[in-house]
Amino acid sequence: MQIFIDTADIEEIRDAAAMGVIDGVTTNPSLVAKTGRPFKEVLVDICEVVDGPISAEVLATDYDGILKEARALAAMHENIVVKVPLIAEGLKAVRTLAGEGIRVNVTLCFSPTQGLLAAKAGATYVSPFVGRVDDISGNGMEIVQQLVTIYQNYGLETQVLAASIRHPLHVVQASLIGAHVATIPHKVIHQLLKHPLTDIGLERFLADAKKIPNG
Ligand code: E4P
Repeated sequence: MQIFIDTADIEEIRDAAAMGVIDGVTTNPSLVAKTGRPFKEVLVDICEVVDGPISAEVLATDYDGILKEARALAAMHENIVVKVPLIAEGLKAVRTLAGEGIRVNVTLCFSPTQGLLAAKAGATYVSPFVGRVDDISGNGMEIVQQLVTIYQNYGLETQVLAASIRHPLHVVQASLIGAHVATIPHKVIHQLLKHPLTDIGLERFLADAKKIPNG
């Protein structure tokens, strides 16, 4: 499973990239707003740090507007994947963009039927939002499972990108299901690597090392 980091914070991206654990980045307008920086400036910085797919979202909701923004974003860097919302105008734009060789991550997917249509339209990635479904007492991971099965059943090449990941168990579940990608917040990436027995073990080794005689 590929790991993308779900943030627009360049320091968080640098930290995860330095560990060699991320294959790409996803951003959204809320994450970019949190940085307090202009969108394009943020994207340029990310493209310098990560050599992998970098999702950048359009704001337009009509076909022509989506196409205009998507083409401009895609022209910024070869690694940019355009993020388009899962609405009818969005799917029309996905079809056109796919025909032009522009990769699209279809975002805000909350059902297997939405994901099936996005794949038919030619999406490179579809992002089911797991945590937001869990938030309203649903089972977000079930949609990931359903999409993986549906795409396998029909040989659809669209990749399932498990999004809105909130904790390490989501990551374990997504990888057992066979999601192609999980996009994970910086905090959760660090939660994935922490284990109290590692810390206790390291502390003990370092303490014992001081008892080793010189020579
Ligand atoms: C996906 O690409 C989105 O950026 C993200 O995963 C949304 O997560 P949230 O529900 O925690 O905002």
